[in-house]
Amino acid sequence: RHTMAGTGHGHRHGAGPSVDAADLTGPRVGRPDRSFTLTAAETPITLASGASVAAWTFNGQAPGPELRVRQGDLVQVTLINRLPEEGVTLHWHGLDVPNAEDGVAGLTQDAVRPGGKHIYRFRAEQTGTYWYHTHQASSTAVARGLFGALVVEPAARPADGLDLVVMSHVWPVGEELRPAFGTADTLTRRTVAPGTPVRLRLVNTGNNTASDAETTTFALTGTPYRVTAIDGVHLHDPADLTGVRLPLATGGRYDLTFTMPEEPVHLADLAHSGGGLLLTPDGRGAPPPVTASGDFNPAAYGRPTPTPFTSSSRFDRKFTIVASDGVGFVDGSLDLIQAFNGRVYPNVPTQMVREGDLVKMTLVNRSRDNHPMHLHGHHAMVLSANGRPVSGSPWWIDTLDLPPGTWFEIGFRADNPGLWMDHCHNLEHAAAGMMMHLGYE
Ligand code: C2O
Ligand code: CU
Repeated sequence: RHTMAGTGHGHRHGAGPSVDAADLTGPRVGRPDRSFTLTAAETPITLASGASVAAWTFNGQAPGPELRVRQGDLVQVTLINRLPEEGVTLHWHGLDVPNAEDGVAGLTQDAVRPGGKHIYRFRAEQTGTYWYHTHQASSTAVARGLFGALVVEPAARPADGLDLVVMSHVWPVGEELRPAFGTADTLTRRTVAPGTPVRLRLVNTGNNTASDAETTTFALTGTPYRVTAIDGVHLHDPADLTGVRLPLATGGRYDLTFTMPEEPVHLADLAHSGGGLLLTPDGRGAPPPVTASGDFNPAAYGRPTPTPFTSSSRFDRKFTIVASDGVGFVDGSLDLIQAFNGRVYPNVPTQMVREGDLVKMTLVNRSRDNHPMHLHGHHAMVLSANGRPVSGSPWWIDTLDLPPGTWFEIGFRADNPGLWMDHCHNLEHAAAGMMMHLGYE
């Protein structure tokens, strides 16, 4: 199931050219298996270091509550906005929900105004690690705290053990930016009995803004471990890793698994010192030294296994997106622009597909910054990285980092009709123009 996860949506219908409106919303009727209410408000929060953030919170906390559901659950989330003036939505980052539930202000719904509410309903079809965040004025509102974790567990009860979401975020503290794991910008300790199976779900919710340009890079030391899933999709036959750096695209997720050893295990964020997670058998002990060198390469990790299509399949549509930056006019004045194919949103042409099409996208970065490309509503399989075919496990993504000078080919099945957003997940770049639409005929 996992090799194709992210491609199943449960909407199945004939090959007609027109989109059936019922496919664009989640189930309107039926009693939800899980319901949640998320209320956005302004609440000051204090980081572990004592620094305070004028945060925007869900239910008084930032990150917002962790939502855990089971595969197949009908999930209902009521969003209430109690912010003083900004609108809010909920986008289920990486979960390929029906279009009307995708939470993109101005595209799939209007932003929920202060005093308003909105109900989202969708079936959690994919297992894995996801997150939710507002999609209105997101370059500032996500940084201020309007996000949280969303985990879809397998329908069968998972084995006992430690299953922990670790969100790496960059908080605006006055004029500064303060990186932290959750709200802990100091070392967090946790006691774990040796022999315990551990799953760490790493989520990068930072913006990778100008003053935080380097990609968030983790290192796990003290034990061999596996990267078991990327962007919620399991990898085939992942091998044990030690001593590598794990750069994680902003918006992206890695699940790491290992068995707790007799010695401490340390998860460090290399680009931002200070924070981290220390698992110890007895609550004591110092972090083992970080020895990581060389970057984890998902293109050559795990082993191949059959996939629903390959790079030699016949693609119905082929698109190229070139990311570039430069100086241009934004709202009538000169500014730094972030462009797709030389154009700035909303002037980037919509890529049109027909339901059922097999689509190839070539993503090229000709700029000086990293661009974590995020596709809404679809998981894509990476076909090649810098001209080399993927040689390891099938590698599915919803968020793919493009370092400067790199290019990737990705493929996906157009199986989720609607009008979707594709954009750079450095949300300041998105605000400066790096967004486009994918539309169904
Ligand atoms: Cu996580 Cu359009 O975003
Ligand atoms: Cu970017």
